[in-house]
Amino acid sequence: MSSDVRKIMVSSALPYANGHAHMGHLVEYIQSDIWARFQKLRGHRCTYVCAADTHGTPIMMKARQEGITPEELVTRVAGEFLEDLEAFGVAFDNFYTTHSDENQSLVNRMFEALRDAGHIYTKTIEQAFDEKENMFLPDRFVKGGCPRCKTEEQYGDACENCGATYTPNDLIDPISVLSNSTPIWKESEHYFFRLSAFEVNLRKWMKSAGLHPHITSKLEEWFEAGLQDWDISRDAPYFGFKIPGTQDKYFYVWLDAPVGYLASFLHYCNQHDDLDFDEYWSPGHDTEVYHFIGKDIVYFHTLFWPAVLEGSGFRTPNSVFAHGFLTVNGKKMSKSRGTFIKARTYLDNLDPSHLRYYYAAKLGPGMDDIDLNLDDFIARVNSDLVGKLVNIASRCAGFINKRFDGQLAPTLDDPQLFAEFTDAAEEIALNYEHREYSKAMRHVMSLADKANRYIEDKKPWLMVKNEDQADAVQLVCTQGLNMFRTLMIFLTPVIPALAEKSRVLFQESSWSWSSSATPLLGTSISTFKPLLTRIEPEQVEKMVEQVKASSDETAAKPVKTDSDEITIEDFTKVDLRIARIEKAEPVEGADKLLQLTLDVGDESRTVFAGIKAAYEPDALQGRLVVVVANLKPRKMRFGMSEGMVLAAGPGGEDIFLLSADSGAKPGMRVK
Ligand code: 2FM
Ligand code: ZN
Repeated sequence: MSSDVRKIMVSSALPYANGHAHMGHLVEYIQSDIWARFQKLRGHRCTYVCAADTHGTPIMMKARQEGITPEELVTRVAGEFLEDLEAFGVAFDNFYTTHSDENQSLVNRMFEALRDAGHIYTKTIEQAFDEKENMFLPDRFVKGGCPRCKTEEQYGDACENCGATYTPNDLIDPISVLSNSTPIWKESEHYFFRLSAFEVNLRKWMKSAGLHPHITSKLEEWFEAGLQDWDISRDAPYFGFKIPGTQDKYFYVWLDAPVGYLASFLHYCNQHDDLDFDEYWSPGHDTEVYHFIGKDIVYFHTLFWPAVLEGSGFRTPNSVFAHGFLTVNGKKMSKSRGTFIKARTYLDNLDPSHLRYYYAAKLGPGMDDIDLNLDDFIARVNSDLVGKLVNIASRCAGFINKRFDGQLAPTLDDPQLFAEFTDAAEEIALNYEHREYSKAMRHVMSLADKANRYIEDKKPWLMVKNEDQADAVQLVCTQGLNMFRTLMIFLTPVIPALAEKSRVLFQESSWSWSSSATPLLGTSISTFKPLLTRIEPEQVEKMVEQVKASSDETAAKPVKTDSDEITIEDFTKVDLRIARIEKAEPVEGADKLLQLTLDVGDESRTVFAGIKAAYEPDALQGRLVVVVANLKPRKMRFGMSEGMVLAAGPGGEDIFLLSADSGAKPGMRVK
């Protein structure tokens, strides 16, 4: 490998394996994917890794709620997550899991090295404990009133209203979110990492890491406040790795999560002979390591993580790149506004290239939040990608296909103009390198404007009508197509799917960044096929409606009321009656709901029920069901739901109603 080929390992933050990918996640994965693709296009040996972040209490509890093992949960969720990201063109070299042998042995190795070097100590602490569930409670599993502003229902670590931070102990009337009982305070021995001993080294690392000034000033604040040692252990029950030499102590998920970067890389190295794990992760090599993260996890990645690495004899990352949060239409994503858009919902309606370009057009190197304004998204993508970029090719390729048998001219019409395009390569490359994507996109689009002006001036569609100029059309269109090609090479990291189609149009086997420097002359092109279609506002409207509808469906789902028992008095308050389904109709815009008209004996009721996957509407007519007749009517997006139909089964296609020939009569009370 030549010496100017850089050896780079880049990572995206590891997604928790208990939720779906959404538009916010995609900011991170698209940002880092663009960077990794750019490095590869430049010819560097860049390995892009990620993994599912699998451990911790929330995942353990979610699996318990679903009645499956945490392993089953994380396998399913991580599989879906990866599938969604891949559909957006995110091309990890390896997507692994933190629940792996490689990760466990690396975590143990680091812990033992830290312990042997005196960086670990134990201390007894008091922690909230749920006696009903028989477990210690993480801060976010305790809720109560904010000690500062008194707002109710705040988590045990921070107040969402006034921003105060505190411990669960400070909450007014704390309760466990698991059982709704009042927690007690119980002692337990915990393992601490002596972060405070690393201040000098961390300051050095901070200077060498070329961190963005936003991060540096955050770090200065934290140094100023004094570094607190870090509690790296959790008590059983916990889904994670057991601390060596203990019976019931586990590593806190945040210790083993970043080690997952190494584990994923190690797993990949084991399958690729040219990659040597130690060359990337032991100190003193000429390799480069970068982490892309969100601004909420800067503390973990710029304090704990480099200190843990340093203290255990590994190398520290060259840098950490943090981005801001995503807002949609200027606000936090919200299901009821239809802006909490899952990756899957987007994919059902729109082209991933649209979003990749839009994010790139908005992203810079800092931690500023970016806004996905849906109107601006439509306007920007249609104007830039369709109106400017793809337009260059569609205006020129047809003439070459039809009039010149697909042959490009042997020379350019305006080599000087073409040189303006190729001359931009280094500046655009620097923009990518420094994550100044929005600058790169502006530069590319200003060149696209130039290309369009050139075609507009030449008007090949008029030239073809004039015998004398007919041959010159080939020159003009060859010029146009070459300008397009150069821009597409520049955009390959951002819109790889379009670049791929364009490369196929030019019948080339591969593109590298330097391919942009030389025009393609005298060769054949394939028949032009439309590369991208405009976004129609209706597509976006439909997507927003789907999000809103799914939020109604979630609201309509019976909510698990934790482990609280109800008394017989509570139960007798529920008026259960037999009802006959008179009519069952699909609900427009809702995937899972049916609108049922029920005969409950003395009256007719409308109820929305999430049973569409299990029953054809027609098959339901005349069937008897049990209905909660005294449920307070609930306003849903589709109308008022006046009761709830009871059914048994795990959901989806397996939902079982009462048998049709049960002999019950509408209005009968169920006892
Ligand atoms: O904040 C999160 O979503 C974490 N799952 C990120 C972990 S990144 C790394 F440290 F593993
Ligand atoms: Zn508060």
